[in-house]
Amino acid sequence: MSYQLIDGKQIAKEIRAELKEEVSQLAEEGLKPGLAVILVGNNPASETYVRSKIRASEEIGIHSRLIRMEETVQEEELLNQVKELNEDPAIHGILVQLPLPAHIDPDKVIATISPSKDVDGFSPVNMGKMMIGQNGLLPCTPYGIMQLFKRTGISLEGKHAVVVGRSNIVGKPMAMLLQQANATVTLCHSKTADLAHHTRQADILVAAVGRGEMITKEFVKPGAVVIDVGMNRNEAGKLVGDVNFEEVAPVCSAITPVPGGVGPMTVAMLMKNTVTAAKKLWQRAK
Ligand code: GUN
Repeated sequence: MSYQLIDGKQIAKEIRAELKEEVSQLAEEGLKPGLAVILVGNNPASETYVRSKIRASEEIGIHSRLIRMEETVQEEELLNQVKELNEDPAIHGILVQLPLPAHIDPDKVIATISPSKDVDGFSPVNMGKMMIGQNGLLPCTPYGIMQLFKRTGISLEGKHAVVVGRSNIVGKPMAMLLQQANATVTLCHSKTADLAHHTRQADILVAAVGRGEMITKEFVKPGAVVIDVGMNRNEAGKLVGDVNFEEVAPVCSAITPVPGGVGPMTVAMLMKNTVTAAKKLWQRAK
C-alpha cells in the first residue's frame, strides 16, 4: 500500500510564515508579542528544544527572552521569577521548560503562570477550559497534531482514534481534542492489558509513549493514520520515534516521520499561542 507522508516540517513552515505576516501587521498597530522562556539547569534535550523555540521567535519577529537558572535554584526564586513575568507588559507568553529538577514541584510552578500567558496550555485553568470546550490556550503538541489533520484533509468525524500515553502534556489533552472533533476515543497507557488489541482497532493511532520504536506492524490496522509523538535515542544514538517507521509505514494510509513530523508543529503552535495571547492581553489593556 502506498502511504502519505505527513510533512510536519513543511506545514510548520507554512504556519510560521502566516504568523510572521500577522506579527508584522501587529507591529504596524504597535503590538510586539513577547515570549519568555525559563530554562533551569542544562539538560541537553531541553537546551535543544529551547534553542529551537528562541530561533522560531526571532524568525517570526516575536520578542524573546531566555532566562537561565541554576540547577540548584530554590523553588521560591523560580516562582518569584514567574510572578515578575506575569506582571511584565512586554511579555505575553511564559514557558518553563520541563522537566524541572526533583526539588521543584512542577505543578506549583505551572499553576503560578498567569493563565492568560500560559502559552504551553498546561495550567489548571487552560486544561479545565479545554475539558469543557471553552476558548483558552491549548497544549502545543496536541494542538499541532490537530493542525496536521486539518491541513492534510484527514477527517476525524466518526473515526476510532486510539491514543497511547496519558501524560498531561500530550496523551490526555490529545484524547480530549480528538473527542471534540467527533472521533470516538480510546486512551491506552502503560497498564493497558493487550495493548495491540486496542491499537489494531484504530483508524487514527497517536503514539505518545516515550519508548523507541515499540509500535511495530502488529499494533497497526492496515490503512490507519499513524501519528508518532516519540523522540527517543536508540542504542546507536539515532533519533527515533515511538513507531517502527520502516515496518509500519507500508501498512498505513498516512504517517508522520521522526524527525520532521510532530516536533516542528509543537514549536509552531507555541508561536501561534504567543501571538494569540498577545492579541488578547492587548485587547484587554485597551
Ligand atoms: N518538555 C517537553 N515538552 C515540553 C513542552 O511542550 N513544554 C515545556 N515547557 N516543556 C516540555
